Amino acid sequence: MHWLAKGAIAVVGVVGLAAAGGAWWATSSASTRMAQSFTAHDVAVPMPFPLTAEEVDALRAERLRALEATGAPTTNEDGTPVDVLAGVDLDAVAMERAVARGKHLSDALYSCRACHGDGYGGGVMVDDPMLGRLLGPNLTTGEGSRTLDYTMVDWDHMVRHGIKPDGHPTVMPAQDFVQMSDQELSDLVAYIRSLPPVDNTVAPVELGPIGTVLVATGQLFLAAEMVHDHEAAHKAVPPSSDDTLAYGAHLAAVCTGCHHEDLAGGPVPGGPPDWPPAANLTPGPDGLQGWSYDDFMTALTDGKRPDGTALRAPMTEIGPYAAAMNATEREALWAYLQSVPAAADRQ
Ligand code: HEC
Ligand code: HEC
Repeated sequence: MHWLAKGAIAVVGVVGLAAAGGAWWATSSASTRMAQSFTAHDVAVPMPFPLTAEEVDALRAERLRALEATGAPTTNEDGTPVDVLAGVDLDAVAMERAVARGKHLSDALYSCRACHGDGYGGGVMVDDPMLGRLLGPNLTTGEGSRTLDYTMVDWDHMVRHGIKPDGHPTVMPAQDFVQMSDQELSDLVAYIRSLPPVDNTVAPVELGPIGTVLVATGQLFLAAEMVHDHEAAHKAVPPSSDDTLAYGAHLAAVCTGCHHEDLAGGPVPGGPPDWPPAANLTPGPDGLQGWSYDDFMTALTDGKRPDGTALRAPMTEIGPYAAAMNATEREALWAYLQSVPAAADRQ
């Protein structure tokens, strides 16, 4: 069972229902829920995101400096400046940068590869005879690819709305990605598309008896139902890292699925009964009061609190992502957590 599959695993109380002869009811209600049709806005997100005017200016300045360093003239005979961008394929530069940004997002922030496999050729969300087989399909362009014909609208619907290209809801927890900006979505797609094709045909989602009851009773969250406004515009780009608090808030969105919107912690929504409550991350006495930035980073990457006690799963799974964050990201995340109102523990 994959740690991110929260919502798929709140099995308490439903086993009895299945045994009580509700099987026929569950099967038909589950199919009714899975057969719902959803619509969402059709956003034409470009892929790759074109270079901004500032990026083009910076590239020009960089190439001009390189030309100056060679001692070659920087003006033509008629006195006009040499066009240092002549022959530069700006689309190729944009793609190269998008792929690099997408790789970083995949390593440090968005957990797609946890369910789709490190090479995106397929992975596991849940594989259990009672719950079902919820496998992450092959997203590369190899044999068995599910995304070969995907348009950017399909990627948006699937990843940020939880709606499959046929309009039906998916079991993938897309509610965790609602905050993703257009550019980040585009960068992730650029990166996934750049990966070597993997030949691997992954079996379609199949619910087991308990999984069927969970869907029927609404305990397996369907992202398409949780996203309240499928027409609302997403952020076009992530906030600039110069705006530390806004940038930190954007990064912290990936923590709120477990630590709650107010970051005061509490039971992990949809988590199984044996998971500890998520900690209070606000700066008050119930939260991280007295923690230093180094304490915070040690907790995130080494799974240890300042008193040396070990953090438990699922928090330990965040380690590799936090380790891949750069200093700007870590500092912005910390600054933001320090800026939110102190809150008492959620009971
Ligand atoms: C918790 C596990 C999990 C995570 C995290 C996850 N996925 Fe998925 N994904 C799945 C599963 C399971 C399916 C199959 C869902 C279905 O058929 O209803 C799926 C399906 C998809 C599909 C649709 C393929 C098709 O059959 O049409 C796309 C595209 C996709 N995921 C992209 C992503 C991206 C991009 C991310 C990261 C931003 C991501 N996923 C994160 C589990 C996950
Ligand atoms: C999958 C759910 C999940 C996600 C996502 C998650 N956390 Fe946690 N986190 C937890 C749980 C559960 C605990 C409590 C662990 C324990 O008590 O052993 C915890 C504990 C912590 C602690 C320890 C605090 C203390 O007082 O002990 C810190 C710090 C923390 N999380 C920060 C973060 C940050 C920052 C993010 C986002 C980058 C994040 N977490 C994402 C579930 C999660």
